[in-house]
Amino acid sequence: MSYSPKSSIAQAFSKAAASYDSAAQFQRDTGHKLLDPVLSRANVEPLASQRWLDLGSGTGYFTELLAASGAHVVGLDLALGMLSHAKAQRSSQGSKQLSHPLTWVNGDAESLPLQDNAFDLVFSTLALQWCDDLGRALQEAHRVLKPQGEMYFTTLVAGSLTELTQAWQQVDDKHHVNAFLSQAEIAAAVCQADFSHVELQVLPEVVSYPNALALLRDLKGIGANHVPTRAHAAGLGGRGALAAMCQAYESFRNDHGMLPATYQVCYAKLIK
Ligand SMILES: C[S@@+](CC[C@H](N)C(=O)[O-])C[C@H]1O[C@@H](n2cnc3c(N)ncnc32)[C@H](O)[C@@H]1O
Repeated sequence: MSYSPKSSIAQAFSKAAASYDSAAQFQRDTGHKLLDPVLSRANVEPLASQRWLDLGSGTGYFTELLAASGAHVVGLDLALGMLSHAKAQRSSQGSKQLSHPLTWVNGDAESLPLQDNAFDLVFSTLALQWCDDLGRALQEAHRVLKPQGEMYFTTLVAGSLTELTQAWQQVDDKHHVNAFLSQAEIAAAVCQADFSHVELQVLPEVVSYPNALALLRDLKGIGANHVPTRAHAAGLGGRGALAAMCQAYESFRNDHGMLPATYQVCYAKLIK
């Protein structure tokens, strides 16, 4: 859940565009799990006439993989910096042979600059947790989908980054980590959007780090170091506080000598 002005979120992600891909292993793994069932459609259906939307497309890694299936794909993102990086990376050298050129749109998932009933499929991985109102974003996705259109999304659930949250709680009472919706709140937001078929599953994912600073580097590298701007919001912390947090995080060191960062990931499939 975000309480930040959209411009601050866009700015943080724009700034991270160049470092994102090398810091995004967890985001890659999660997106691939969401992508597998989507791409299995490519084996059974002709996709050349289909229009797909990648909502919160970031550097366009998944946008390009979606487009490699043969569908016409639009990548939409709030951050102009992400979009210009994606354009440069995905439509020139190193880009896959695509039957349709990728289309890039700057916009907000909560107020899509797109027509009703325009897409056969909406894909969105690890972007919707940045929306102020998930129900609104899902209503917008529902609006732009054609009847029987499908939406696949992942988002983070309460309990994500619990070790980091607990380590900071040992140091001060400021908000250093984003708050995430509970599974019940996500289910309620999905209900608001009036899809005819809903599948939701929450799976834990543990990423291992040699130390807490390596986790913070990844969060900063992907642009997720931006935290709510309510009272006491405190970003990733000053030097003294940071050292104290790193020390507190040590209590989570496991038998393999690593520090865990636990994510609770919601995987959703919705049909209009
Ligand atoms: C963690 S990145 C994920 C990017 C991509 N889906 C991936 O998995 O590589 C989150 C992306 O969501 C975008 N984003 C955040 N809030 C958004 C909003 N309200 N509408 C559209 N995009 C948004 C950010 O700019 C960022 O590019």
